Amino acid sequence: MAKTKSVFRCTECGQTSPKWLGRCPACERWNTLVEETAEAPAKGKNTERTFRLPEGSAAAHPVPLSDVSAAATARTLTGLPELDRVLGGGLVPGALILVGGDPGIGKSTLLLQALDRVAGGRSPPRTVLYVSGEESPEQVKLRADRLGVDPSRLLMFAETRADRIVEAIERLSPAAVVVDSIQSVFDPGLESAPGSVSQIREVAARFLYLAKARGVPIILVGHVTKDGALAGPRVLEHLVDTVLYFESSAGHPYRILRAHKNRFGSTNEIGVFEMGAGG
Ligand SMILES: Nc1ncnc2c1ncn2[C@@H]1O[C@H](COP(=O)(O)OP(=O)(O)OP(=O)(O)O)[C@@H](O)[C@H]1O
Ligand SMILES: [Mg+2]
Repeated sequence: MAKTKSVFRCTECGQTSPKWLGRCPACERWNTLVEETAEAPAKGKNTERTFRLPEGSAAAHPVPLSDVSAAATARTLTGLPELDRVLGGGLVPGALILVGGDPGIGKSTLLLQALDRVAGGRSPPRTVLYVSGEESPEQVKLRADRLGVDPSRLLMFAETRADRIVEAIERLSPAAVVVDSIQSVFDPGLESAPGSVSQIREVAARFLYLAKARGVPIILVGHVTKDGALAGPRVLEHLVDTVLYFESSAGHPYRILRAHKNRFGSTNEIGVFEMGAGG
């Protein structure tokens, strides 16, 4: 068992402190420090494991930029034009995308429909993977039936352990993956509680390197806290390629999808969706 000690980490900037402080010494925000159990770097434990790319992968060693194939950046259209536009023209291979939004806004609905479109429209259909850490397969099936999604071309995985999810993605090499939600996924090798800042960071970093190494676009669903920030540290926003927010104006069936950050496109585009029984 790894030796553990308690630390306090700022949910905004990730700064740690051995004792609780009312104000973060780094970013100077108030009441942002939360306690977590950090793992003391144990001997023999590979603390770099999330930052190591597989041997032989294109990005594992320095290469002349001229040798990098730009064909690898051919985008996959999600088939939802509003989503494709906000993404900057579809899904880029290896992109890590964070989709945030209030509870019940329709994140799962939107992404289930997007995955269905990525899979379909060609024969044979592409493999797509929907990882649900919050809802049972039955719940997802009910939603899929309501949305008219073709269940035969969608792989459903109800799992919250990061290692099992990573293994499934490596084995299946899907055309796109949705992880619903990043807060529900945890690494059992870490001492800190699922949903804690260090868990979210660690797990997101694993997905980042998996996405880059395999060229698989991975979409992470993130919950938004009551003050409107994505739950978890702001470092998650730095880590991922694209941050999208799904929002509504009170009482309207319209939902607005907007890019807060996008390494592959403009942040000036918005997508407008109408929420109905069929999605
Ligand atoms: N039968 C239905 N007809 C119309 N709208 C429905 C129906 N069932 C659910 N909804 C709507 O779908 C929305 C929930 O969508 P969804 O589960 O995709 O949201 P979410 O953002 O993933 O939520 P969470 O944060 O809980 O995961 C709710 O706002 C609800 O009003
Ligand atoms: Mg959901």
